[in-house]
Amino acid sequence: MEYRITQYDLEQGALEIQYIEEYFGEFPRKKTAVEIIRRLKGRAHLILLATAPLPDDPGSIVPVSFKVAHEIKIPETEPKLIDLMHRLQGFVQFDGRRVLYTWIGGTRRDWRGQGFFRALTEQQEHWAMAQGFDEIVVKTKNRFYEMRGTLDHLRFEVVKYERNASDNAESKVYLSKKLLPETIHTHRSARTVVEVKD
Ligand SMILES: CC(C)(COP(=O)(O)OP(=O)(O)OC[C@H]1O[C@@H](n2cnc3c(N)ncnc32)[C@H](O)[C@@H]1OP(=O)(O)O)[C@@H](O)C(=O)NCCC(=O)NCCS
Repeated sequence: MEYRITQYDLEQGALEIQYIEEYFGEFPRKKTAVEIIRRLKGRAHLILLATAPLPDDPGSIVPVSFKVAHEIKIPETEPKLIDLMHRLQGFVQFDGRRVLYTWIGGTRRDWRGQGFFRALTEQQEHWAMAQGFDEIVVKTKNRFYEMRGTLDHLRFEVVKYERNASDNAESKVYLSKKLLPETIHTHRSARTVVEVKD
């Protein structure tokens, strides 16, 4: 199977992500285009979306999986990112290295388990390496079992575990993957990537 991936510039990408989050209504954190633009503007970022035909109407191509990432570095100015950097200090090396943070992502329920997220992850790694990034970091929660299982398959390593005192299911898990020359050889998805410019 060849995965169809679109890489978007900021404005149109933000609208596409808002659409998939809102329209399909199953992702836990819904971001608006305004929020997405505010976060990504002025920093290196990557917006990827995979599309696929509807099973009962193969002529209709719909967005099924997405992944949004941006660079994090010292110093950050946005409160949420200042907090993130603080929490990652001592667990991720930033000095002289470029770190990409996977902010949001997911696959629509009916398309899960078909390799869409692996394809987006591999494309993200491919892009990140070409841009000179050294590591990809992601944050999840203990109770996001599907995401944890998936990140395990994608060879992300836990770098920090932040226990929530009242509910362990809410504990935060920080994972990372170092980008090494051999990373590219572990990739196995066939992908067609189209770039859409604003
Ligand atoms: C996690 C999620 C993105 C996976 O997407 P997907 O398109 O189904 O993933 P893929 O089919 O590309 O699978 C990638 C790898 O993860 C594995 N995997 C997928 N779902 C899994 C699960 N529920 N448990 C364990 N492993 C899983 C696959 O077997 C595959 O491994 P392989 O390539 O070595 O065989 C999707 O289930 C999702 O959107 N879940 C909800 C999102 C969420 O929880 N967000 C919380 C915020 S972090």
